[in-house]
Amino acid sequence: MSGIFLSFEGIEGSGKSTQAVLLADALRAHGHEVVITREPGGTQRGQVLRGLLLDPATQPALAPGAELLLMLADRAQHVQEVIAPALMANKVVITDRFVDSTTAYQGYGRGFDRALLHQLNALACGGSLPALTFLMDLPVSEGLQRARLRRGEMETADHFEAESVAFHERIREGFLAIARAEPQRIQVLDATRPKELLHQEILSTLQRVIFHVT
Ligand code: TMP
Repeated sequence: MSGIFLSFEGIEGSGKSTQAVLLADALRAHGHEVVITREPGGTQRGQVLRGLLLDPATQPALAPGAELLLMLADRAQHVQEVIAPALMANKVVITDRFVDSTTAYQGYGRGFDRALLHQLNALACGGSLPALTFLMDLPVSEGLQRARLRRGEMETADHFEAESVAFHERIREGFLAIARAEPQRIQVLDATRPKELLHQEILSTLQRVIFHVT
């Protein structure tokens, strides 16, 4: 496969979706063919899974094992249908969440064995792994506040946003631990900074690491 595979990760309200769109626009302006996508929900079947996973109105709550397996089903379909073909066609693929979200949320958050998750992620990815991952890091209180503002007070928090602050703290620490273990792939960004500055930092990292421009 010869395209370029990039992912954005972070807790709720970290601004990763905004940065993914800014990056896609910048790369398109430089003539790259870009596919921007997300998990869960990057395919039509995945949209159905996203509804099952996130809709707070679906009661009783999903069993943690069902949550994990639906995330993986979403990923397997997403890789086969969207990511792998785009990489084969030499495109740049930017995904808003990928394997690290499973390690952070289902591993550090729900407590599933991380070695098991590693194997399951490998099965779902079929060898497609990001060359570079941007981890948007910020305090949980700030992220949850931003997520609340974005959805508006009248709408109910989704399945994950409604979890305890302690859960989200474990996710943040989990992401940082993953980044410490893979510093060559994962670039940690201080997501409290203005979005234009973050965009510039993302562009210069990409030039240095992927395009080897100094
Ligand atoms: P978001 O795409 O709007 O951030 O919402 C997706 C939610 O799903 C978010 O709370 C993180 C969660 N999630 C997992 O728990 N595990 C996963 O593997 C993925 C991709 C997402």
